[in-house]
Amino acid sequence: MELKLNNKVGIVTGATSGMGKAIAEAYHEAGASLILSGRNLERGNQLAAQLENSVFVPGDVNDVDYNQKLVATAMDKFGRLDILSLNAGILGLGNVVDLSVETWRDTIDTNLSSIFYCSKFAIPFLQEGEGGNILINASIAAFKSFPNHPAYCASKAASLGLMKQLAVEYAPKIRVNAICPGPVDTPLIWDSAIAFDQPEEAVENAKNATLLKRLGTPEDIAKLALFLASEDSSWITGSAMTIDGGIINA
Ligand SMILES: NC(=O)c1ccc[n+]([C@@H]2O[C@H](COP(=O)([O-])OP(=O)(O)OC[C@H]3O[C@@H](n4cnc5c(N)ncnc54)[C@H](O)[C@@H]3O)[C@@H](O)[C@H]2O)c1
Repeated sequence: MELKLNNKVGIVTGATSGMGKAIAEAYHEAGASLILSGRNLERGNQLAAQLENSVFVPGDVNDVDYNQKLVATAMDKFGRLDILSLNAGILGLGNVVDLSVETWRDTIDTNLSSIFYCSKFAIPFLQEGEGGNILINASIAAFKSFPNHPAYCASKAASLGLMKQLAVEYAPKIRVNAICPGPVDTPLIWDSAIAFDQPEEAVENAKNATLLKRLGTPEDIAKLALFLASEDSSWITGSAMTIDGGIINA
């Protein structure tokens, strides 16, 4: 494989499962050194052992200091920082009346504020050298509602607002984009299905509702994440790209 991220250093949040893990593996294969962010110690240590030139830094992305530590570790270990793949996310399920204020805040923090925290500390370093790249993992939930997903939909829509703001403020040195996946086969989609009366049927329906009649795989998403982090996409910034088997138009 062509080493499209050779000599680059990246941070991937939510790297211990699902799409984050696939993104970390794709970036590694493309030659990047990585800071792997996640909460699960066993899976994080295992991934760091699997991916040469990577360091697992366990912690909670809602913690402001932890975000600073991710950036500081990249600079200490590798002396530079080029890519942020801000992928960590939660669902925060419940309708507006039943949803606790705590879950609302936790969801907004994880899916939105953590992007601000990590970007805030990383941008001065991303501006150095040839320039940096920020990639936000949003969702088609940024564009449409889903039952019992008010905090999720609101946080994902707001993450696109922040993405555009960052793209405008830090161009031309830093490119900032978002991917908006549809139903992808990760642990999260099964958690999401619980919000529906018939969870198994909900996932099957989501699959059948895609124009391409299949769920996405973490690897489908990682390929787009690699393209957007690499020089192959050097004229793309401020974009929110759906990658959803066409479900948004179904
Ligand atoms: N699976 C889907 O169908 C789908 C669709 C659209 C968007 N997404 C988005 O894709 C991203 C990745 O999700 P996934 O589907 O791979 O699910 P996943 O549950 O496998 O991955 C989410 C990751 O985020 C981490 N995370 C959550 N809260 C955290 C916190 N406070 N601190 C640190 N890490 C935290 C989790 O530990 C996990 O590793 C999420 O932002 C999600 O909203 C998923």
